[in-house]
Amino acid sequence: MKNLGSAELFTIPKEENNIKRNLLDRYIIKDMNEWDNLNADLIITDPPFGIEFSGKNGNYNRNAENVVDGYIEWRVEEYDNKINQLLNVIHKNLNSNGQALIFSGWNNSHIIHRNIKEFRDLILRGKLYWVYNFAPVCRKKPSHNVYEIYWVTKGESWTYNKRCSTHHCENGEPNLCTLIFKRDYKINMPKYPTRLPFDLLRCLLEHFSNENGLIFDPLAGSGMLGIVGYVTNRNFILGDLNENGKLVYEHLIDFYMKNTSLFEELKLGFW
Ligand SMILES: C[S@@+](CC[C@H](N)C(=O)[O-])C[C@H]1O[C@@H](n2cnc3c(N)ncnc32)[C@H](O)[C@@H]1O
Repeated sequence: MKNLGSAELFTIPKEENNIKRNLLDRYIIKDMNEWDNLNADLIITDPPFGIEFSGKNGNYNRNAENVVDGYIEWRVEEYDNKINQLLNVIHKNLNSNGQALIFSGWNNSHIIHRNIKEFRDLILRGKLYWVYNFAPVCRKKPSHNVYEIYWVTKGESWTYNKRCSTHHCENGEPNLCTLIFKRDYKINMPKYPTRLPFDLLRCLLEHFSNENGLIFDPLAGSGMLGIVGYVTNRNFILGDLNENGKLVYEHLIDFYMKNTSLFEELKLGFW
């Protein structure tokens, strides 16, 4: 890919034939530390959990054969250091009014929290909770769980829109502290172990960024953020070290494009 960082790269052509090629070009296989000066408005990222997670563990209620290989997990002993690296990646790729939403499972959330607090050049503004129906088969505890989402900004101004087009803004005052979104499982396609759901990302993108803004995820996995970015008219750039993440991303593009009008329906909110 040429001219990484130029405005031209981030403008998605609307001609149908070029859409798939263009969406694919926005997913680059590389280490998170190699990104520099993207000038992004918003980074949404979900780091590995540090729990020897592979997505194929026996306690997950899924057909492990459909789950792609290659997910890069972070070891517990390196977790502190990796989170610090991620915060550096966030800092050097945000513009001065930029902000980031960093997902965290509960196991190592304290490490993420401490690193953010100790990181001089990012400001912790708050925490959101995503309540989800990801249900490892377990007899001894409830089958719902939460993700924490750390909200950080680079400076004193940032984008926040009061309303989005998902269900949680339909009635009354939107509750952005606790987000309740189901996972949207896809059957008969390659699966990424930790793909985030469409509507959750739509909600976050619409509240925390504007149309034509630049969205970035250095740990993109399935690339779902790019799909939702496209549908909500954001520009985006994705990276991951796992080539199979890009493969799942291609299947997701095909899924959402299979009916040529599906992307358009999504834009209009019929999904
Ligand atoms: C929790 S997953 C992200 C899932 C993604 N949010 C989605 O919706 O599919 C974390 C990702 O980080 C990737 N990863 C781990 N270390 C990396 C590194 N140093 N550079 C780039 N990607 C990395 C893993 O391969 C994995 O895909």
